[in-house]
Amino acid sequence: MNNALLEVRDLCVALPSGADRPFAVKNVSFSLAPGEILCIVGESGSGKSVSANAIMGLLPDAMKPKAGSILFKGNELLHQTEEQRLSWRGKDIGMIFQEPMSALNPIMRVGEQIAEVMAEHGTHSDKARQARVLELLAFVGLPDPERLRHSYPFRLSGGQRQRVMIAMALALEPAIVIADEPTTALDVTTQAQILALIKRIQHAMGMGVIFITHDFGVVAEIADRSSHGERNTGRAGAGAAGAEPATASVHPALDRRSSAFARRRTKVWFRCSIASGKKPAKDLYPCQRIVRQEAHTTSSQQCQL
Ligand SMILES: Nc1ncnc2c1ncn2[C@@H]1O[C@H](COP(=O)(O)OP(=O)(O)OP(=O)(O)O)[C@@H](O)[C@H]1O
Ligand SMILES: [Mg+2]
Repeated sequence: MNNALLEVRDLCVALPSGADRPFAVKNVSFSLAPGEILCIVGESGSGKSVSANAIMGLLPDAMKPKAGSILFKGNELLHQTEEQRLSWRGKDIGMIFQEPMSALNPIMRVGEQIAEVMAEHGTHSDKARQARVLELLAFVGLPDPERLRHSYPFRLSGGQRQRVMIAMALALEPAIVIADEPTTALDVTTQAQILALIKRIQHAMGMGVIFITHDFGVVAEIADRSSHGERNTGRAGAGAAGAEPATASVHPALDRRSSAFARRRTKVWFRCSIASGKKPAKDLYPCQRIVRQEAHTTSSQQCQL
């Protein structure tokens, strides 16, 4: 993709010796355009988080990228020094983690944690940071930001903690947000609210979103395109760049499963809505614009241990 914000090509990440297979991800390729929501969908253990962490430069020492490239606006992110990564991590690419309770600092008030993102990058004066914290808390739909910013994470509900994580990821208006299964730990109603929030934010801010999930129902609700990871091979296909959803090939399995999940999700939504007396929001209907990308690489570059 020529105008890609992010381009991951033939990424191979080795597992530590003694693991059940040599690679956590093998020849993974995908790209993200500005303003696009790309879903990476794959079963547990297929290497989705490893791919995300490789982009963020957050791989554990025991796991090494062995081949491939990760280009952000044309700049290679693989093999950078930690100092180089600190200059863009959180500023140009933000991340929303699966478990806000483990990602948030339990002994720091949530407002301080959001302000810290700005302080780390030396943006905003002290006063402007505080104002921005309030603005962000309100933007992600948290009630009474003035009071809430003084709360510790354990005082908040799971959905509220995830909103705080989203506020942190948005603090510096990154060009890309990577959301690694941000709704898995939440009940179905809260999940739908967080998905709607991510869609709303993406629409309002026009950033690119990489949305990682193993839930095909979630994909049906949020995806412009999807990239399908497979366990055992640990690889994902290259994106059908710029493909028109209506004409692009849809993998039969993904299509069947997503339709089934989507129908079920719609029913759940109707049940929730009836219970709450509200009509479901139209944009939460399954979008059905799911494109399955090539499941195997055509790359000549092989992973070498
Ligand atoms: N720190 C680590 N040390 C050793 N192996 C690891 C480490 N982190 C991940 N792995 C292995 O890498 C593989 C891919 O893991 P990863 O967490 O990326 O899967 P995933 O697709 O994100 O799964 P899930 O949907 O459950 O989050 C798995 O086999 C996992 O056991
Ligand atoms: Mg994961």
